[in-house]
Amino acid sequence: MEIIHVSAECYPVAKAGGLGDVVGALPKYQCQSGDIAKVIMPMYRTKFLYEHDWTVDFKGHANLGNWYFDFTVIKEPSNKLGFDLFLIDINGLLDRQKIYGYEDDAERFTAFQIAVVTWISSWEHKPDVVHCHDHHTALIPFMMKHCYDFQHLASVPTVVTIHNGQYQGWMGWDKSLYIPRWDLWKRGMLDWAGNINPLASGVKCADKVTTVSWSYMEELRTNANGLEALFEYEKGKCVGILNGIDNAVWDPAADSYIDHPFTVKTVTKGKAQNKQILCEQFGLDINQPLFVFIGRLVGEKAADILPDAIKTAIHQTQGKACFLILGSGDTSVEWALQQMTNDYKGIYNAYIGYNEQLSHLIYAGADFLLMPSRVEPCGLNQMYAMRYGTVPIVRTTGGLKDTVVDMGDPDGFGIRFNNATIDDLAYSIGRGVSVYQDKAHMEWMRKHMMQIDHSWEGTVDEYRRVYQSLK
Ligand code: ADP
Ligand code: GLC
Repeated sequence: MEIIHVSAECYPVAKAGGLGDVVGALPKYQCQSGDIAKVIMPMYRTKFLYEHDWTVDFKGHANLGNWYFDFTVIKEPSNKLGFDLFLIDINGLLDRQKIYGYEDDAERFTAFQIAVVTWISSWEHKPDVVHCHDHHTALIPFMMKHCYDFQHLASVPTVVTIHNGQYQGWMGWDKSLYIPRWDLWKRGMLDWAGNINPLASGVKCADKVTTVSWSYMEELRTNANGLEALFEYEKGKCVGILNGIDNAVWDPAADSYIDHPFTVKTVTKGKAQNKQILCEQFGLDINQPLFVFIGRLVGEKAADILPDAIKTAIHQTQGKACFLILGSGDTSVEWALQQMTNDYKGIYNAYIGYNEQLSHLIYAGADFLLMPSRVEPCGLNQMYAMRYGTVPIVRTTGGLKDTVVDMGDPDGFGIRFNNATIDDLAYSIGRGVSVYQDKAHMEWMRKHMMQIDHSWEGTVDEYRRVYQSLK
């Protein structure tokens, strides 16, 4: 089976969050299981681009409304990532430092999608499935089915995976000219509430829609940033498939980013050694339990409650806990978290920014990982934490609900709470401080979590079943 993944991110080429991790891993494991999986993504100006050689695969041209553009598809020839990787270069539009966050993102990603479909339609054969990830690629099913120039692709099955339903890529109808000549009777397939809504269009036009956990699939029908009715209506073609993690990249026993690798047997010693490095680097007290947060500092992650929840927990536990934050995002939250470094020296610190290497050391050295997320379609952090023996403290939502069992339940190994509030989070930190005193219980939880299988191998079969259902 030949599967073409289309995505804005793919680790290690370009990553802003979990989407990159998933698209960097799923195709690799699909290839290992005997399928042919390929990834096509925009060519940004990333380190990976400059550090590798590329061959030209295709040169084409297309229109974005009245703007004519040339594009080039380049390929990484050595199969370094374990699958064929293609990048689309559109001069001046995609080749920038950042992945997202530009005023012309609608133009950038629409042009990218037109180039992808133009490239696929130039092939002599047709792929078995085109698998689109999130709204940046979700206009592709519409283009393949309803744009006159791509009619011969109308029979190729499409899958849209929703990693995050909060972002939908809305654009005004004035931008409808960007979409190559299309059947005007199909206007309703682009529209949601008076705008062009790429994610809604993807849900309507794709043959199957998946999302990244079972619980999030349910939640979308009641909480989908305005698309609830659509998910209710289309529930017959929607399926939840829990993400895996790449055990080759996230392996505490062979992680080149950490100085002290460890296994289930050596977890207690290994974590203590990594914690020592972390605590020295950030001036924290090694004798206290270390609570960390890693992630985007945005409302979805409830990062705004972190400053006050941490202050409350410090007060309630009389300073018997340490905290370390790694993240970037909303400036007001960044500022509040940075400010606290002056007030709580020795027990609190923050690294505002993005740092892949540091994230590995933190998963390895921390005792508890905080995830108070308001919305969490899957969440990979809690699974990385578990693999590194770090106890997750999570709000009961989406993929967090599907992967973490509270330590009060039989065989439980984590801490769950219901509301993204300062009090609930501070109370849960208090539970962490108490259980930390019970060394045997901590050791049991660490060892138990490290052995839970979150690998992609099983998940690959679930995706294959989805593709096969479309034949
Ligand atoms: P999301 O995709 O919503 O941001 P996930 O939990 O699925 O959330 O994935 C987040 C990924 O991004 C993880 O690999 C996490 O380690 C990484 N990450 C997030 N913020 C940072 C940061 N500031 N520095 C390094 N890695 C980060
Ligand atoms: C999104 C979600 C996150 C999920 C990731 C990968 O960014 O916010 O919960 O883990 O995609 O699917």
